[in-house]
Amino acid sequence: MKLSINMAMTLDGKVVRPDGRWYGLTSKDDKHQMDVYRSQSDALIIGKNSIINDNPVVKIRAFPNVLNPRPVILVRKGSLPINKHVFEESDHIPLVICTKVNLKEIKTDLENRAEIFALDSEDIDPKKVTGILKRKGYKNVLLEGGPKLNFSFLEGDLVDRVYITLVPYIIGKNGLPGIADQSIELPKFDQNAWKLTSSTTKGNEVFLTYEK
Ligand SMILES: NC(=O)c1ccc[n+]([C@@H]2O[C@H](COP(=O)([O-])OP(=O)(O)OC[C@H]3O[C@@H](n4cnc5c(N)ncnc54)[C@H](OP(=O)(O)O)[C@@H]3O)[C@@H](O)[C@H]2O)c1
Repeated sequence: MKLSINMAMTLDGKVVRPDGRWYGLTSKDDKHQMDVYRSQSDALIIGKNSIINDNPVVKIRAFPNVLNPRPVILVRKGSLPINKHVFEESDHIPLVICTKVNLKEIKTDLENRAEIFALDSEDIDPKKVTGILKRKGYKNVLLEGGPKLNFSFLEGDLVDRVYITLVPYIIGKNGLPGIADQSIELPKFDQNAWKLTSSTTKGNEVFLTYEK
């Protein structure tokens, strides 16, 4: 199974606006490119905060007859509101992976809207997530952030590829996250250079692909 991160980033390396959300900074070309990556994927992991803050549309719009990847959501604490696009307009019932701590709450809120898989732990180990997805037969998994979730999968050495769109803005404000965000650094980050395998430009944006 291949796992690819896909993120849009400003010229100063930020992936959220000062209000903590991401909107209005990606062009039509970037949305089209995102649909290309999605159309090549069979599962799509989306971060809990990203769903709450951005309510992303999960349907592929550029290619009408293509099957959308199955949404996968990881929730360690609490639950998720059901009035989000991911529960309303996907081709597949989303897979929600939770813990023994919030299983009851998740069942109450999402029983008829999602397949629920509870881990017998209080945290969600990303290795367990990739194990579940492999067993379900998914071959190409796209991880569309946010930065906290990206960090967990990178820390677990589970990411094979990173797609980055460079968008032509500079925000400047300090403290805003980049594509991976935690209070610690990734182990041996300076010994693990990623390999640039593709770079294309469209309009004012650059589309980069890095592989391990
Ligand atoms: N520029 C872009 O392309 C792009 C793309 C996506 C998102 N974003 C931005 O990113 C922002 C959110 O990013 P974020 O980093 O705050 O949140 P996130 O990565 O979307 O979600 C993180 C949350 O997921 C839950 N989670 C479950 N298992 C986890 C695990 N193993 N590791 C880490 N988290 C786990 C945790 O919540 P619980 O502990 O409560 O369960 C955690 O707080 C959004 O507001 C959006 O604007 C930007």
